[in-house]
Amino acid sequence: MKLFLDSAKTDEIKHALDMWDIDGLTTNPRHIKESGKPFGQVIEEIAGLFAGTDKPVSVEVNPHLTDWEQMVKEAQELAALSPNFVIKISVGEGGFKAIRELTALGIRTNATLIHSVPQAWHAARAGATYVSPFLGWREAQGDSAAELIPDVAAMLGNYGYCSLIIAAAIRNSRQIADASLAGADCITAAFAVYQDSFKNPYTDFGERVFQNAWDETPGAGK
Ligand code: E4P
Repeated sequence: MKLFLDSAKTDEIKHALDMWDIDGLTTNPRHIKESGKPFGQVIEEIAGLFAGTDKPVSVEVNPHLTDWEQMVKEAQELAALSPNFVIKISVGEGGFKAIRELTALGIRTNATLIHSVPQAWHAARAGATYVSPFLGWREAQGDSAAELIPDVAAMLGNYGYCSLIIAAAIRNSRQIADASLAGADCITAAFAVYQDSFKNPYTDFGERVFQNAWDETPGAGK
């Protein structure tokens, strides 16, 4: 399962590339805003961090757009900035048409804000490179998200669609485990979620047990 960082903060991205060897990046308009930098600047900086790699970087078109032709135009402009860029398109009638056109143009897409199997099906039919079911947002509203990834995976498998699943808006280690067990191809989560996923209180406890044993062993190195 590929590990994508969900961020537009260059310090987080640099650390994750260096220490975690992340497989790619996803951004969204909120992450771009939180970077504190102008759109063009942060996009250019991110492109530079991934230059020379084959790691995909998802960048979203203006989320106000509903006209597919405008989406395609903006997607082409973004895609021209970096060979790493995969264009995020929000699902909807215009979005599916834009994905179909971009696929025909050879531009990779990430169908974002997917909350149902039918939405993932439309995106897969249109040729989306990635489909991104959002787990965390559903659970924040009290809806179960546990079935979404296995259901989308089953649908894609039934018909041999090539779209890859990005389990998105992952909030905790339980959701990482669920997504991996359901066969998600990729996962994207915030920096802090991955930091937490490295840890476990039992590991901390075990380390203390072993450290104490070490300290009480004659001849053990200091
Ligand atoms: C995925 O591609 C999205 O950017 C992301 O997971 C959205 O969720 P968040 O910004 O609420 O974490």
